[in-house]
Amino acid sequence: MATPHSPRFSRPATGQADWTRSDRYHNSFLLPHDEALDFALKNTAAHGIPAISVSAAEGAFLNLVAKGLNAKRIVEVGTLGAYSSIWMARALPDGGELTSLEVSPKHAKVACSSVLVTMTDHDQVSEENLAHAGLSSKAKVLLGPALETMPKLSPTPPVDLVFIDADKENNGPYFQIARKLVRTGGVIIVDNVVRNGRVADPDVNSPDILGIRKLLEMVKNDPGVEATTIGTAGEKGYDGFMYISVRKGI
Ligand code: SAH
Ligand code: DHB
Ligand code: MG
Repeated sequence: MATPHSPRFSRPATGQADWTRSDRYHNSFLLPHDEALDFALKNTAAHGIPAISVSAAEGAFLNLVAKGLNAKRIVEVGTLGAYSSIWMARALPDGGELTSLEVSPKHAKVACSSVLVTMTDHDQVSEENLAHAGLSSKAKVLLGPALETMPKLSPTPPVDLVFIDADKENNGPYFQIARKLVRTGGVIIVDNVVRNGRVADPDVNSPDILGIRKLLEMVKNDPGVEATTIGTAGEKGYDGFMYISVRKGI
């Protein structure tokens, strides 16, 4: 059996280069090259927006979760350039709907132009199609702070999947609002819950880290959900997803 002193453990620690190479290796078998996703990343970068979207492997995971749920309605908190929105919206059947919430007008605009979604203004009055075809009938970006827009979302039809990926300090309230939207059997996924291990470091107490700890407390105290965190080391560094299965939803 391998012990910490056996040769199996004597290799040098892995680092970012290994994780990136590993993601690319696996992706080369599992993920076909995708023009629209590449375009979204390039267009987002060209506008000076940081490259903090999910990785390709994580995007594919979100797509597969949505398909496994037969998702017809998806809510995303934090659009950025809509890279993750594209992955998830592609899992929707005709008539399905993804609503993505974004506070930055610049991000929302780029999302709509690069990703081919429809942007709805803050009051949801004027709907402006900023894009080509693709997902414009299925994906919408709702502009404004998610703490304001999310509570206004209708609980009917119930939501199958919520992806929380915005300001980490508000993860607690986003989870609470998501609970009022998601059906029994639905799923809430929260990105960036590991943050290089800093969430578990008692010396770190920044607002984002505190927000993730608050979420952990809430999930622990909620008898209607079961959850697990999966650490992810890949091209986007060392972080993690929390997968929350809603056993008793709306
Ligand atoms: N889900 C995206 C990445 C989102 S990055 C992807 O994987 O492709 C986080 C986004 O959350 C940023 O665009 C940021 O502007 C947005 N954001 C930050 N605070 C917010 C808030 N209070 N309400 C809505 N969006 C917010
Ligand atoms: C940041 C935000 C994210 O959603 C992410 O996946 C990585 C980084 C950030 O705000 O730095
Ligand atoms: Mg994220």
